[in-house]
Amino acid sequence: MASKRALIGIDVGTSGTKVLVVDEAGAILARHTESYPLDTPRPGWAEQDPADWWRAVRAGLGAVVAELGAGVDHVGIGLSGQMHGLVALDEADRVIRPAILWNDQRTGRQCAWITERAGGLDGLLALTNNPMLTGYTGGKVVWLREEETGNYARLKRILNPKDHIRLMLTGEHATDVSEASGTGLFDVARRDWSWELVDRLDLPRSILPKAYESHEITGRLRDEIAREFGLPRGLPVMGGGGDAVIQTTGSGLIDPGTAQTIIGTAGIAACALDACAPNPGGRLQVFCNNDPARWHCMGVSMNAGGAFAWLRQTLGAFATDELEFDAMTARAEKVPAGAEGLFFLPYLIGERCPHPDPDARGAFVGLTLRHGAGHLVRAAMEGVVFSIREMLELMRPLGLEATTLRTSGGGTSSPLWRQIQADATGCEVQTVSGAAEGGAYGAALVAGVGAGIWPDLSTAIKGIAVETRTTPDAANRARYDAAFAVYRELYPTLKPRFDAIAALP
Ligand code: XUL
Repeated sequence: MASKRALIGIDVGTSGTKVLVVDEAGAILARHTESYPLDTPRPGWAEQDPADWWRAVRAGLGAVVAELGAGVDHVGIGLSGQMHGLVALDEADRVIRPAILWNDQRTGRQCAWITERAGGLDGLLALTNNPMLTGYTGGKVVWLREEETGNYARLKRILNPKDHIRLMLTGEHATDVSEASGTGLFDVARRDWSWELVDRLDLPRSILPKAYESHEITGRLRDEIAREFGLPRGLPVMGGGGDAVIQTTGSGLIDPGTAQTIIGTAGIAACALDACAPNPGGRLQVFCNNDPARWHCMGVSMNAGGAFAWLRQTLGAFATDELEFDAMTARAEKVPAGAEGLFFLPYLIGERCPHPDPDARGAFVGLTLRHGAGHLVRAAMEGVVFSIREMLELMRPLGLEATTLRTSGGGTSSPLWRQIQADATGCEVQTVSGAAEGGAYGAALVAGVGAGIWPDLSTAIKGIAVETRTTPDAANRARYDAAFAVYRELYPTLKPRFDAIAALP
């Protein structure tokens, strides 16, 4: 019997790495997830050991190859991963220090300096179409130069997390255009590095990897890795994409009336653009899409599933067993929409979008004796969705008039959270096949285009099917419109107090 052609998608996430195998019809044949820790050596810092990612990738490859055996002909590997993280390498490609991650907030000063060197925000937007956010890689490199001079002296190359895995798999220093967009050093309109910005920051051009389109072959599996895992010699590894971009691709490329929302650790609202639209005031992220003829627009809130996880841990601290997600949402379901006047601002680790503010803090506002645990949970779920709604509203001037949301991420497994999304935005909320797999599914799709299984991404996504549809409830919608009008005033009202809190000795 002829063996089936298949693609491997790898997603190097923040909490773990997923390895997925997808066949020519887009069906998932095998999957494996391996977790690892996140270190927070200081408040606002977030680091990981790249060796943990590599261990997880190896475990995942071993597991899926063993599960599928010889019946499958692997034809390509696509990579996806948490974006923006800085992996600093020396001349022998050794990792110099722990990776500084996307949700690390240490670079406020460096980002301000970069913006100034670029001629202010407008100058920076003219070069890259993006502000230099504290999460982005560019500020992290400058931080290294200022704060860890010994490490900086050894720096020869920088890579983002998934591209470090590419180096381990192929020996190549390469990235893809969607990932490179998230360094803040990339000219997104031209789909190439902004050498002008790199020069203005006095960074050596040679530290940057070559940027490919997502479907292009960036290298081939090293012989010893192919042997070790029983994979074909010379198996191509394609560009792939940053998770926040490629998850949108993996949900099916999107017509202008559809937006993507993600409730993962972070919360994301995203849509595809036919042209590189200007990014007014730099409030959004406008990146290269995985489709070479398109761009991608998104807002990323740092606090979505992560805020919920905090609440779960905190409410569960005095219980003997860990609180069950379903038990928590079941309590929240008994509480009416709007949580009887209780609001939650989710900014537990500062915020990026809708408010670019590392000093923003979380808050429950409106507490009364009537509010119990179910209210806290419901208010947290609603706060995350209100934040997504604010991001969708920011995307309107770029032409997005969403009537449908395709949603994914761990939080989407909750029907209640899907209903809150529908009710608080007025959009139909859909889940689609493959979307629960994070970036790994989209990574497999772009690899399939590169391997010639599909001629382009529009064909690759034809195998994606709508699995659930949630429509807005008219009564809840009206309540949420009223509650949202209050919610959106809370951040500006509290902002001066957040600044004062941040300045406390
Ligand atoms: C995107 C972003 C996050 C990370 C973590 O800009 O910061 O989505 O990629 O997954």
